[in-house]
Order: sequence, then structure tokens, then C-alpha cells
Amino acid sequence: MASQLPSKILIIGSTGVIGKYITAAILSAKGASIPSLSSVSILTSASTVSNPDKESLLSTWKSKGLSVITGDIHNADDVGKAYTGIDTVVSCLGRGGLLEQIDLLKWAEESDSVKWFFPSEYGTDIEYDESSNDEKPHQNKLKVRKYIRENLKKVKVTYVVTGPYLEMYLFKKPGLDVAGGFDAGKKDAVLVGDGEGKIGVTTMPDVGKLVAAALAHPEASQDKILKVQSFVTTPKEILAEFQKQTGVQFKVDYTPIDKLEEAEQKLWAEGNPAAALLTLRRIWASGKTLYEKTDNEVIGLKPEDMETLDFVVKKAINGEGW
Ligand SMILES: NC(=O)c1ccc[n+]([C@@H]2O[C@H](COP(=O)([O-])OP(=O)(O)OC[C@H]3O[C@@H](n4cnc5c(N)ncnc54)[C@H](OP(=O)(O)O)[C@@H]3O)[C@@H](O)[C@H]2O)c1
Repeated sequence: MASQLPSKILIIGSTGVIGKYITAAILSAKGASIPSLSSVSILTSASTVSNPDKESLLSTWKSKGLSVITGDIHNADDVGKAYTGIDTVVSCLGRGGLLEQIDLLKWAEESDSVKWFFPSEYGTDIEYDESSNDEKPHQNKLKVRKYIRENLKKVKVTYVVTGPYLEMYLFKKPGLDVAGGFDAGKKDAVLVGDGEGKIGVTTMPDVGKLVAAALAHPEASQDKILKVQSFVTTPKEILAEFQKQTGVQFKVDYTPIDKLEEAEQKLWAEGNPAAALLTLRRIWASGKTLYEKTDNEVIGLKPEDMETLDFVVKKAINGEGW
């Protein structure tokens, strides 16, 4: 499908944290920025379909033309049926489901119709430099990339690398102040490093917008690792925005990178799953979200198309989550 626009898209993991934003953006692109798009469907689990918390989301989407297919991603027949007639698959599976994508990719390669696959990435650059290969949180995504490089011939792939989600980056994880973050209620903040390190971030609605833009530009995105983001900022710039909008000086602490690394090693040694967050925060604070140039423009997005720091800080102050 050299540079052919997508016509029938299947999303897997659509109701998850980032899947919601990606699915909403793809539905909005139907009949708009992706004129070729004739159908959008999701493959989701029976437990999600019967989950009362997800009922209104699914019915809103259905009213916008979404088809819901219930099935098990581990079952070849269920996936084969969901793939029927589909040309493009967008996976938004959570960390626990990353390796399940190897079968999903194998079945995509065997299917008569699937020609394009977006593996679940939407985060940190897992091949930023040589050290990336050893980072524990990257291992499953690295295995998926290896499988793709060694096995896929027909199906084209697009990886969308967005860096940290700003909404999550702003919040302090309870009991884990060392990781950094901002508390608009208590008017305090913990900045990682000296607070002046640049970091490339993406807002969650912008992740959806960037995936839809990648789908609308197959010539620029197929068989590519797209490095995209909303904008570059620093912890001190974020702090200044919180202080400007609240009119209050925050109490500020710092976590030097070596302290962060110490805490990270300790949590890994204890088998605490929060260790992954500290590893990612250390990677982000070390400049590994920065590029001379991002790929935003090649998929048609300009700086003014992206959300802004003041907008996201305002939402955080108003207590809006994600
Ligand atoms: N950049 C960042 O700051 C950041 C932050 C968070 C996540 N991410 C990345 O975004 C991607 C999606 O993560 P997420 O947090 O949005 O996912 P999530 O909410 O944990 O899960 C997404 C969906 O995956 C489906 N799923 C099916 N089997 C699964 C399994 N065994 N394990 C996990 N999920 C399963 C479920 O959908 P159904 O119920 O519909 O079947 C679930 O709702 C990942 O690649 C993750 O690394 C990046």
C-alpha cells in the first residue's frame, strides 16, 4: 500500500489511558483530515464492554460511527475476524500487553488485508542512544521492534515516539516526591536536576492528534520511527507558569539526578514496580527527549497546532485529570 491512505482502521486497547485520546482523534479525522477513512472499529475485551465505567464512552463513540468488536486478543480466530477487511491496525495496548503484540503482528502479516500497523509506543524513545538498550522499562518494546525487523515483510509499521505526557509529568506521585512534580493544592513542587534541563513533552490530546496526522501522511510515516512532541520546556518554566496562574510562590525542593538514580536502584532492588517511573524520569531529565528537529512538520503539524503549557497547567490547577 505504498503511500495509500487508510480506509478501514481497527484500534486495539482503545479504552485505555492513551487509547481514549487516539480513538477520539481518529474518529474526528473520519470525513475530515483522513477523507479516505470509511470505517473505524475497536477490538476490545468482554470485560471492558460490560464495565459500567466505560459504557458512556463506548456509546458516545458508537453514535459517531464506531463499530465495537468484542473478543480476546490472544485468540487467533477472534483477531482474524476483527482483521477482516481492515487495512490499518493501531495498537494502544498497555505495558502488560506489549508482548501480546507479537502474535497480533504475526496474524497481521498473515491476513489478506492488513498493510499498516502502529505498535503501542507513544512514549520514551527506546533507541535514543546506546544506553537505551539496557533500560529495564524499554525491554518489551525493544522485543517488539526486533520481532518486526526480523519478521515483517508485507505489513508496514509506524512507531509514534512522543516523550512524557505533560499531564502526568506535572503530578506528584503520592509517596514518591523524589520523582518530581507539582502540587497546585499545597503550592509546592519538586524539580528534578537543577530545574533547567530541557524536556520534550506531549499532551495527551496531542498524542491523538499526532497519531491521526501520521495516518493522514502515509508517505512520511510508513516504516518510520516518528519523533514528535507538543513542545520543549523545563521544570523551572513549568513552576513559573504555576506561580503566575495561582499568584503564589511555591515551596520548591530539588532532586539531584544522582539522588534520583539512588532511589531508582533501591526500588528496582526491592522489586517495587514504581522503579520504572524513576527510570523514565531519570531518562527524561538527562536530555533524552530532545532532537535537533522533530517529525511534527513532516506529518503536517506546526507549533501553533499543538497544545500549550499555560493550557495544561490551567487544567492541573482546576484539578482536571486525564
Ligand atoms: N509517554 C508517557 O508518559 C506514557 C504514559 C503512559 C503510557 N504510555 C504508553 O502508552 C501505551 C498504552 O499505555 P496505557 O497506559 O494507555 O495502557 P492501559 O490503559 O494500561 O491499557 C490499554 C488497553 O490495553 C488493553 N489490554 C488488553 N490486554 C491487555 C494486557 N494484557 N495488558 C494491558 N492492557 C491490555 C485494554 O483494552 P480493552 O479493555 O479495550 O481490551 C486496556 O484498556 C503503552 O505503550 C505505554 O508505554 C506512555
